[in-house]
Amino acid sequence: MPIPYNRCKDVTVLSLTPHGPEGRENGLWLLELENPGLAKARPGQFAMLRPASWGFDPLWARPLSICRALPDRLVFNFLVAGRGTSALTRLTPGDKVTLWGPLGHGFAVEPGVRTLMLAGGIGIAPFVEYAAVHPTPGQLSLLFGHRPPLSCYPYEDLAQTVGAESFQDRSAEDIPRFVELLEKRMAEHAGALALACGPTPFLRSVKAAAEKYGVRCQISLENRMACGVGACLGCVAETPDGERVQTCTRGPVFWSNEITL
Ligand SMILES: Cc1cc2nc3c(=O)[nH]c(=O)nc-3n(C[C@H](O)[C@H](O)[C@H](O)COP(=O)(O)OP(=O)(O)OC[C@H]3O[C@@H](n4cnc5c(N)ncnc54)[C@H](O)[C@@H]3O)c2cc1C
Ligand code: FES
Repeated sequence: MPIPYNRCKDVTVLSLTPHGPEGRENGLWLLELENPGLAKARPGQFAMLRPASWGFDPLWARPLSICRALPDRLVFNFLVAGRGTSALTRLTPGDKVTLWGPLGHGFAVEPGVRTLMLAGGIGIAPFVEYAAVHPTPGQLSLLFGHRPPLSCYPYEDLAQTVGAESFQDRSAEDIPRFVELLEKRMAEHAGALALACGPTPFLRSVKAAAEKYGVRCQISLENRMACGVGACLGCVAETPDGERVQTCTRGPVFWSNEITL
């Protein structure tokens, strides 16, 4: 498959581990790849990954947020959602993965500005890098909503750097309670900055709360992608004016008032 991108590299798998027994049960994995020179990736950017062993099936690469860009390795956290991510769990150290990135626009970094990070499930991944490289991490706080246990996520890494709180929803009745908490935290951040990544219903609640409480807010969309570089139109989202925009090149991070959910 030709990949229309000159930053495409074949990198080696360093490790692949589930987040403990509960991570294995819930399909939450930690993947480390050799870093082909992505140390300058901005938090919120992503990479397209396609193991060499895939041949023609699955055909398309899968996008994953860069969770850490360290000089010697790239760290990804992923949730098994279907065929592609399930196939990723069969990688072993030494396998080759074709990777292209860093792609898209990352989150705004505003030193000295109170910033609320809102993560739903595996949407926590980009915030690990965000907190690690932020020049004034004391201004950051995190609200994390999740269903599988906390041990399935890179939450502890974040909780060591920023004020973090988590909410586990165990039933449908818990969702309104989480939205209530989210609104409370938004109200406390009126005029400040909020950043969100997670499932679409979660992002809808975030967008509504940001408008209600006057919070400048960015959201990261996880639309289905194929090329990651603006060539296939597979990832299109819509602005309030009806303009169709490619999430991979114009996003995945958008100001919440610039996109329809
Ligand atoms: C910029 C970006 C960053 C991402 N970062 C991460 C990350 O760090 N960790 C992570 O676990 N996931 C992340 N995702 C989502 C991940 O790419 C998808 O879960 C994955 O592509 C699904 O592929 P699959 O072959 O496993 O599932 P498929 O077999 O294609 O589909 C399985 C199910 O998931 C749905 N689906 C397919 N693609 C997506 C998608 N992109 N988003 C939501 N639902 C989808 C399908 O409708 C289907 O119901 C990111 C997506 C984007 C666009
Ligand atoms: S993924 Fe191909 S245009 Fe965005």
